[in-house]
Amino acid sequence: MTVKEIFDTMDYGPAPESAQEALDWLKDRGGLAGHYINGQWGPLRDDFASNNPATGEKLAGVTKGTAKEVDKAVAAARKAQPKWAKDGAARARVLYAIARLMQKNARLLAVMESLDNGKPIRESRDIDVPLAIRHFYHHAGFAQLMEDEMPNAEPLGVCGQIIPWNFPLLMLAWKIAPALAMGNTVVLKPAEYTSLSAMVFCEICTAAGVPPGVVNIVTGDGETGAALVNSDVDKIAFTGSTAVGRIIREQTAGSGKALSLELGGKSPYIVFDDADIDSAVEGLVDAIWFNQGQVCCAGSRLLVQEGIAERFYTKLKARMDGLRIGDPLDKSIDIGAIVDPIQLAQITQMVEANTAGETYQCGQPEGCFYPPTLITGLAPADTLMQEEIFGPVLVSCTFRTPAEAVEIANNTRYGLAASVWTENINLALDIAPKLVSGIVWVNSTNLMDAAAGFGGVRESGFGREGGWEGLLGYTKPRGKSEKIKAPVAFTSEDGTPADPLDRTAKLYIGGKQARPDGGYSKPVFNKSGKLLGHASLANRKDVRNAVEANAAAKGWSKSTGHLRAQILYYMGENLSARAEEFTRRIDTMTNGKTGTAEVEDAIQWLFTWAAWADKHDGAAKGVPIRGVALAMNEPVGNIGILTDDTRPLMSLIEPLAPALAMGNRVTAVASEVFPLAATDFYQVLETSDVPAGVANILTGSHAELAPHMAAHNNLDAVWSFSTTDLAHEIEAKSTGNLKRTWVNNGQSRAWPSAIWRAQSTEIKTIWIPYGE
Ligand code: NAI
Repeated sequence: MTVKEIFDTMDYGPAPESAQEALDWLKDRGGLAGHYINGQWGPLRDDFASNNPATGEKLAGVTKGTAKEVDKAVAAARKAQPKWAKDGAARARVLYAIARLMQKNARLLAVMESLDNGKPIRESRDIDVPLAIRHFYHHAGFAQLMEDEMPNAEPLGVCGQIIPWNFPLLMLAWKIAPALAMGNTVVLKPAEYTSLSAMVFCEICTAAGVPPGVVNIVTGDGETGAALVNSDVDKIAFTGSTAVGRIIREQTAGSGKALSLELGGKSPYIVFDDADIDSAVEGLVDAIWFNQGQVCCAGSRLLVQEGIAERFYTKLKARMDGLRIGDPLDKSIDIGAIVDPIQLAQITQMVEANTAGETYQCGQPEGCFYPPTLITGLAPADTLMQEEIFGPVLVSCTFRTPAEAVEIANNTRYGLAASVWTENINLALDIAPKLVSGIVWVNSTNLMDAAAGFGGVRESGFGREGGWEGLLGYTKPRGKSEKIKAPVAFTSEDGTPADPLDRTAKLYIGGKQARPDGGYSKPVFNKSGKLLGHASLANRKDVRNAVEANAAAKGWSKSTGHLRAQILYYMGENLSARAEEFTRRIDTMTNGKTGTAEVEDAIQWLFTWAAWADKHDGAAKGVPIRGVALAMNEPVGNIGILTDDTRPLMSLIEPLAPALAMGNRVTAVASEVFPLAATDFYQVLETSDVPAGVANILTGSHAELAPHMAAHNNLDAVWSFSTTDLAHEIEAKSTGNLKRTWVNNGQSRAWPSAIWRAQSTEIKTIWIPYGE
């Protein structure tokens, strides 16, 4: 017998990990899982079962939390929060203790996770648990450094956190570690299929000396989750399906609760013809067969360059044939069980409904398992190329040129992650910025770390988790806000006096002054009732035209910070040249004497943002792999802004300058009460080389225009500083493309530059090989 023959005939022997310790652990606790509130267990009830998906056996009975129980947990968290927030070094010690105890209990955690979720023990032991521990270590450090490095930040308060079943412990760590580090307390709800590793975690919290009320776990299903969303929390951090993300966005609209959404994806995995094919095939095993493909950032859409497609598919199929599916507790298993028969049915149904392309499947054992599947020859718009399957199903099409690869990759409503495989560094780094996604892996896939931001754009949600950028989602700048005092527009006692000249200020769209679609306008008076002019009343169509002009001006978002800086300086200079005229205008409109100061503020602010335009740098994160994670700042895109009414000029310049400096295109609605300084500003834009469509200015009713902006699918964010509280309207209507919103809830405050910059940018995390 040759060595080759021996290798060919050799099979794996079973290498099972014992489930006994974990099963005993559950038995010792009466076979029940439930709430951990204020450092105490209970109530524990057998409301529904948590099963082992690999065998169908019941592991434990789980409590379905009621709204009352959720409120009790939130009250405990509320009470514990002020003391917890006081001492960063003390928090660091507790987080460190959690990390150490997780290390000590690592095997129990891994086995419990594999029993409850069905994932291979190899993954829970080598990835989920170590990465969860890494989150507590890393965030212990953030707690320690908070006072020094973030002197102006304070915690949000109580954070409600809702997590899915695909990474039960890792998602828990991912949510709890940063929240606690920043001085928040939490109420977390695990997913209904997978509550058990959270139970082990609660015991670790007690042992680590987590003060009662700082960590609360409430078990249950979607109804329990909904109760948490509607409870008295300051933030909801959600990871799960886009459908539920939308519901939560609607339910929290106008509540003032902070929100982060980490939702689904259909991430492209792009293989160029010069890629190291064997590595790219091996990468796919991690991209789509890791955790049975139940991964939000799974590389589920394979795009292969035409010339190598056949060779690539042949190698891939051979690799698929070698994958071992079966008992998750067997250490030599590659693919475990699907989390639940419901999820299995959903995957099966989606694949069966597909008639396009060619399907290749491996064998599978009986039970809640789904075979590794490859479907080739699809068109980019086919259902399975667009819809998230959330199972071990890889769909594929080919492309010819890099430009086509980018086009197909971006042809999705999601924007979570992307992988690029090529041996040509120029090509990889040319493609990375063109991909619309929160994460790009170069010659790698599914890499995650506590130091690197994770999160998406488009319908993959908003907000980042991990790294310094993730902490922004668990803090707010110190300082108080005030209720806005709305100024009242002056009127004329004699009705609208006749004006021989038509002094109607038009709208400013696409670099030109444009008549409003409806043709209506409203008069603007000074205090003594003298007519100063008319302001146009924009409508939905004007919003549409303005956003179209924004979209056409996309070159601005690719321009250099150096160019944008020059243009912002130029705006400041041109405003300065017209300072007297603007001062007069402001004083006449407001009947005040603040014009000089306001114009000076506006010039200063333009200069400040000219300065920032080429200085808001990204970062290179040290991550514990052979690589580096770059945090690159990108513009958000098209931003709709409803400006405040109080200061005629600054209300426009204050949001406009940072948004433009960071490379966004803006459609702003001017002060409703004092619109004419903003309309005078058209001339400054015209003379300052601001490209057409980069800054559009509308006048009209904020309440009327806000819902159109919120619902517009080509606006990537809407900000409202309006004196009319439009928070509910905007947030509830933003669910179409799940745009980012930044609303004032009727309050005003001065925001530090870090917040303007964060609101004006998306951080893209690019993982590149680096070092030895
Ligand atoms: P899901 O989004 O319904 O569940 C995630 C979490 O949200 C669970 O803890 C659940 O109890 C909770 N939840 C459900 N409805 C809620 C509501 N109205 N208010 C507050 N919380 C609520 O996800 P599900 O049903 O488990 O999976 C369905 C599909 O979602 C999957 O097939 C997959 O496509 C996708 N999914 C995506 C995930 C991701 O990480 N992107 C994670 C899990 C599921």
